[in-house]
Amino acid sequence: MNSPAPKSFVNPRARHNYAGRPCSIIGVGSYVPERVLTNADLTRMVDTSDEWIITRTGIRERRIAAPDQYTSDLAAAAAQKALENAGITPQQVDLIIVATITPDMPFPNTACLVQQKIGATRAAAFDIEAACSGFIYALEIGQQFIMSRTYETVLVIGAEKLSTITDWQDRNTCVLFGDGAGAAVLQSRPDSHGLLTTCMGADGSKGSLLCMPGGGSRNPATPESVQSRLHYLKMDGKETFKNAVTAMVQAGQEALRRCALDIKQIKCIIPHQANQRILDAVAERLGATPEQVFMNLDKYGNTSAASVAIALDEAVRQGRIQRGDLVLLVVFGAGFTWAAAVIEW
Ligand code: UT7
Repeated sequence: MNSPAPKSFVNPRARHNYAGRPCSIIGVGSYVPERVLTNADLTRMVDTSDEWIITRTGIRERRIAAPDQYTSDLAAAAAQKALENAGITPQQVDLIIVATITPDMPFPNTACLVQQKIGATRAAAFDIEAACSGFIYALEIGQQFIMSRTYETVLVIGAEKLSTITDWQDRNTCVLFGDGAGAAVLQSRPDSHGLLTTCMGADGSKGSLLCMPGGGSRNPATPESVQSRLHYLKMDGKETFKNAVTAMVQAGQEALRRCALDIKQIKCIIPHQANQRILDAVAERLGATPEQVFMNLDKYGNTSAASVAIALDEAVRQGRIQRGDLVLLVVFGAGFTWAAAVIEW
């Protein structure tokens, strides 16, 4: 516990984030399945148009996993790339956290399946579920294990096979989602500040606005529940949209406030890739320029917990983020849940 606090961007009111040693993201990776489902493909499945989807969401295509390719496969592929990027062997990993709403099965957890697939035999493994906010929730949890010196190396993954819970007869939702995975390796590095702050929030009173009613203890699988299509994602799009903008703006502002940072100091904003109109509204209200905002939703749609993880990896690979740059991640999802993180890269 003797590590000095990071030398810059410290806000005394965010002390809890510096109670232990700093936590850095030392490697990132992502994986998306090969199959591309275009807007034109969707026009043959539901009553929609390329023009409606692009103007209302910004999405042009999304990736769909093969029938025998599960969330753990997507997660393992992303994890392997992140480990390679970090120069870490699977045996060095102490803990695997998978954020997902589409686990391979209710149990065992997907993190255990990933542990086996990548050969991280020393690692403890568990899943967390915070829907589209899952990756930042998992980052925060992983960070706590690093800061407390419980573990040296934590692998955090956001992975989804949303195509399995998408109702392909519902045009209100089926145009939005895609499959994929992103991963980050956490360690403490003396020469790097890493995660400067993370803040999370939730409002359980709005849970019914975005949910999958079937498959749990309330509506276990029965012929009737399947008949009623309860095992598919349901969303009140308009309400979710409004709440997403408000919560992402507030979470982003809170994260900046905790680090005593102005939005102009942020090199790259990586928001949850839900809808271009949401991202535009969030950027405008945060006072950011469009150039600061990273977007890849045109290629992948909304991949829930994988969304910012994939985007972070792509932003790094495209050179949009360089060492020392300040990055703001901000997310919103079912629950409702939301979160933001500031990273010094
Ligand atoms: O990951 C968690 C966060 N998720 C989100 O934040 C998603 C938030 N919500 C949204 O992105 C938007 O609300 C949607 C993209 C889902 C919908 O956009 P909207 O501008 O809110 O449209 P709407 O739901 O108000 O629908 C407008 C019209 C309706 O027709 P009527 O009732 O006005 O005749 C819909 O039936 O558009 C119709 N519509 C479609 N038309 C063609 C809805 N979906 C489609 C479609 N193609 N795919």
